[in-house]
Amino acid sequence: MLTELIHVIGAGGHGKVVLDAMSALNIAANQIVLRDLATKYDGQKILSWPVKIGYPDIKNAGQLFHLAIGDSKAREQVCLLLTKLELIPFTVIHPKAVVSKFSRLEQGVFIAANAVVGPMVSVGKSTIINHGVVVDHDCVVGDFCHVAPTATLGGGVQLGKHVFIGAGANVLPQITIGDFSVIGAGAVVTQNIPAATTFAGVPARKIRG
Ligand SMILES: CC(C)(COP(=O)(O)OP(=O)(O)OC[C@H]1O[C@@H](n2cnc3c(N)ncnc32)[C@H](O)[C@@H]1OP(=O)(O)O)[C@@H](O)C(=O)NCCC(=O)NCCS
Repeated sequence: MLTELIHVIGAGGHGKVVLDAMSALNIAANQIVLRDLATKYDGQKILSWPVKIGYPDIKNAGQLFHLAIGDSKAREQVCLLLTKLELIPFTVIHPKAVVSKFSRLEQGVFIAANAVVGPMVSVGKSTIINHGVVVDHDCVVGDFCHVAPTATLGGGVQLGKHVFIGAGANVLPQITIGDFSVIGAGAVVTQNIPAATTFAGVPARKIRG
């Protein structure tokens, strides 16, 4: 049984989803410390956890952390900071998610309720696979990505790092999406997407980048 403290970083909307999943995993409430850098959360409670501002008292190597930060660049920065302090990223998989035993998840991944991660899938570090997402067989999802609720990645899809897939989007099998690209909510992606561009619509067309 886990006994270490787990620092959850991020008191915003995604923080609530992560805390809820940890609660569903029966992780003891007093084992979770909720933190955020934003002073607007000072004195607030999120679900049943008071928010601590900043990380000055995070010092103990070996403690665990989970990044509940929506912004992927901030997620990477905080990940670097905390791993330098020798804290260890903690993976959270909601008990109602279905994750193939033939998949590979890097440290710090979040898998929400009703998500399905198929066989031979790999998911990069601190990536968010949100509610109801389907990541079908043989997909490769890079570090610090976010696949938003109910999106579907067909078999063999490859996402670079920091890719955002909007809610309800569908990415056809074998498609490749480059680093830092964004796919709009509800899009159907029928072609490979280069790095750092935004595509939206059905079929998805470039709207930025
Ligand atoms: C694609 C997206 C990132 C674009 O945001 P943006 O860069 O701020 O773009 P804008 O809102 O300025 O829209 C630019 C154009 O694209 C269109 N557009 C934006 N999002 C679209 C979408 N999802 N599908 C189709 N068209 C879209 C707008 O209507 C606008 O068209 P116009 O120029 O003809 O008026 C955003 O609209 C989106 O879909 N985000 C996903 C949100 C989401 O899924 N969140 C989940 C959180 S858990």
